[in-house]
Amino acid sequence: MARASRLRQSVAVIVVAVAGLVGGLAMMAPLEAAQVTTTGGYLNWGIKESFRSYIVGPIAKGSTSPQGGASVNGDGTYRFPLASGTYDASTGVGSFTFSGSVRFQGHSGQLDMVVSNVRVQLSGGSGSLVADITSKSLESATTVPYTGVTLATLTGASAVPGTNVVNWTGIQSTLTASGAQAFAGFYTAGLPLDPLTISAQLAAASTATATSTATATATATGTATATATATATATAPSTPFVGPAPRPSSAGLLVTSPGAAQPVSQLTGALASGGCSVETLALLQQGTWRIMIAGAPPAANAGLPASLEGATPFFVRCV
Ligand code: HEM
Repeated sequence: MARASRLRQSVAVIVVAVAGLVGGLAMMAPLEAAQVTTTGGYLNWGIKESFRSYIVGPIAKGSTSPQGGASVNGDGTYRFPLASGTYDASTGVGSFTFSGSVRFQGHSGQLDMVVSNVRVQLSGGSGSLVADITSKSLESATTVPYTGVTLATLTGASAVPGTNVVNWTGIQSTLTASGAQAFAGFYTAGLPLDPLTISAQLAAASTATATSTATATATATGTATATATATATATAPSTPFVGPAPRPSSAGLLVTSPGAAQPVSQLTGALASGGCSVETLALLQQGTWRIMIAGAPPAANAGLPASLEGATPFFVRCV
């Protein structure tokens, strides 16, 4: 068979196979590979400026006391150390638990409120703030626990990534109905609370306990039926991809090892060592297939990046 004709046939097979894979990939569970744990950081939050002023002012004549590692910032807001958390830059999902508490006292002890165990859940631009609160009731003067109460809803969270750190400033917070109860009825749901600033230091991707799982099935043609399941754990990878190389004359979906980007030349080299001479390597990037076909003119293969990010699923067909 002439080379051009073989190439045309190969392209046709791949296009159909890739079309089948698109369906498989659409059903793929979201990758968890990008989720990393936090190693430190903090939350700056003043709860509500007018409440702080009221507490230490002439009406309540009280005090505010940060405890258990929480401290007061120069602007009067509080800093709660980040005790634990996870963050996934690919989905914008973050879950953070902060240590420290703040006690508000006033009216000669009739007002006594403690906010502790502050947790923040973010998903993209919005989220919620949960805390454990105890607050003395105005009527009965008994201390009422509000454990795990969703104190505020969060909006306007815009992540600013850095090197092993991600920051948010000016996250808007709004009091919920359940949170309002802890303020003895002086506030109503929907009231704006102080904005939040969060800084989360992230474990380096190569040392994170990230796990990546990708599964896809393509049954579009008899010649290119691919079923691949790959699980990647972030432990010093010895090959640039995870899982066994597909056998000759078969296709599969692999995942690049988590961590540093993997040059395509290294991927094809490692696949060749595993007995797979790569005929096609394809990557779905933001809804567009980037395809490299061995032997095709360089211009035709220009769509595939020179290297693939760590923990990236990619399709490969071997001859
Ligand atoms: C002897 C008991 C109390 C008295 C006499 C009292 C009195 C007052 C007064 C007069 C105000 C209005 C302040 C102003 O408009 O500037 C106020 C505001 C407030 N009180 Fe109390 N209060 C008492 C107990 C409590 C308790 C137990 C809580 C529970 C946390 C509480 C939470 C608040 C809040 C959240 C405000 C609104 C502060 C703001 O301006 O943002 N109070 N209180």
